[in-house]
Amino acid sequence: MAANLKKRNQRGNMKLAILSTNLKCYSTRRLREAALQRGHEVKVLNTQKFAIDLEQGAPELYFHRKKLSSYDAVLPRIGASITYFGTAVVRQFEQMDVFSANSSAGISNSRDKLRSLQILSRHQIGIPKTTFVRDKRDILPAIERVGGAPVIIKLLEGTQGIGVLLADTVQSAEAIIELLHSQKQNVLIQKFVVESKGRDIRAFVVGDRVVGAMRRVAQGQEFRSNVHRGGLTEPIHLDKLYMDTAVRAAQILGLKVAGVDLLEGKNGPQIVEVNSSPGLEGIERCTQLDIAGSVIDYISAQVNFPEIDLRQRLTVSSGYGVAELHIPLGSEYIGKSIKGSGLEERDINVLTLYRSASVIPNPRQSRILEAGDRLLCFGKLELMRDMIPKKTNRRRRPMIKDLPDLPVADEVLRESSSDLSAISSKEEL
Ligand SMILES: Nc1ncnc2c1ncn2[C@@H]1O[C@H](COP(=O)(O)OP(=O)(O)O)[C@@H](O)[C@H]1O
Ligand SMILES: [Mg+2]
Repeated sequence: MAANLKKRNQRGNMKLAILSTNLKCYSTRRLREAALQRGHEVKVLNTQKFAIDLEQGAPELYFHRKKLSSYDAVLPRIGASITYFGTAVVRQFEQMDVFSANSSAGISNSRDKLRSLQILSRHQIGIPKTTFVRDKRDILPAIERVGGAPVIIKLLEGTQGIGVLLADTVQSAEAIIELLHSQKQNVLIQKFVVESKGRDIRAFVVGDRVVGAMRRVAQGQEFRSNVHRGGLTEPIHLDKLYMDTAVRAAQILGLKVAGVDLLEGKNGPQIVEVNSSPGLEGIERCTQLDIAGSVIDYISAQVNFPEIDLRQRLTVSSGYGVAELHIPLGSEYIGKSIKGSGLEERDINVLTLYRSASVIPNPRQSRILEAGDRLLCFGKLELMRDMIPKKTNRRRRPMIKDLPDLPVADEVLRESSSDLSAISSKEEL
């Protein structure tokens, strides 16, 4: 690795592996071409041909039964059909300290629509109201909670618009969901963002920038704007809110290269999906931009910073760890600077300050704390324990108020009032 970096620094270029099972497709060809144009050494390696060897202190990769030579960086293009094996290969590169354009965790997060929305939902990022249920009796109330019919029903791992349905009535939605459940399919029930009118935005994110964006417009009666469903594209210039939302969504999921799909909702951008191996053909043809070049330039600039599992690395000293400290209304820390808060004396370092939608890395000691601030800290766990908010004190999100009074909820309460679960159901409502 060290020798490798030296080689790279001297020549100013890198040795890159593109992981792909589709060696000839447009995206792979363009990425390879862009790397070559910039003087990098590049190999396209079929993800399926790797073998992952595990041994104490020596993670190794074999490719076509030969030990893999050393690389500076990998660019994973992992298709949905090989997520498990593909992310395992990327994880192995991470163990070997090779920079990966997208982390294995980021790819896993984005691959599953439920998982990605769960992760995004705690941040100040627009997403369509979504629910996930298992019990037959929960289906109707769930549909009502997201706003009733027409309603979107989605398979967790669909792509290209396959697996996304629009049900016109509550009855048909319920029937479809029951049918899918009977076929062991997990489905999301999602609010239909009607005002987006069959249009969505694909923002191509590289690092902390949107390097290209297009609007996709569904044709005829179709509500899905995927190009594979006949959607037409037009280049657009995104305003700051849309750009920031797309970049933050990719960052939160842990992706450096991502195709972020957003709907234009009446209250601003709504993220529907984040793709970790976004196609290049549609966006390059539409925008006439060298998107492949941006990806390669980004990797080449970041190659010396391989993914570090921060939490894991920071918690190896016993008694030390990472925690999020919350400054609630009425806190004694409000109005004090970070320095004045006395955190430093207690051996607590503030790594990042989260304030509403903004993120302030390495905040200055002079910065004044405000109510609602969240501080990501590293320090002695014992000393941070008192400052971690108690679960019961956590502010309820205002969204909860939207819950309609459903007769079925009373039913559930009555039905289960004889057992202990009634107590928790009551509390939850
Ligand atoms: N909640 C929604 N409201 C309105 N349109 C939607 C919604 N969810 C998806 N769509 C439309 O369906 C398309 C496909 O949905 P998406 O979640 O991106 O699935 P896929 O992974 O199959 O592309 C989107 O590009 C958008 O046009
Ligand atoms: Mg999509």
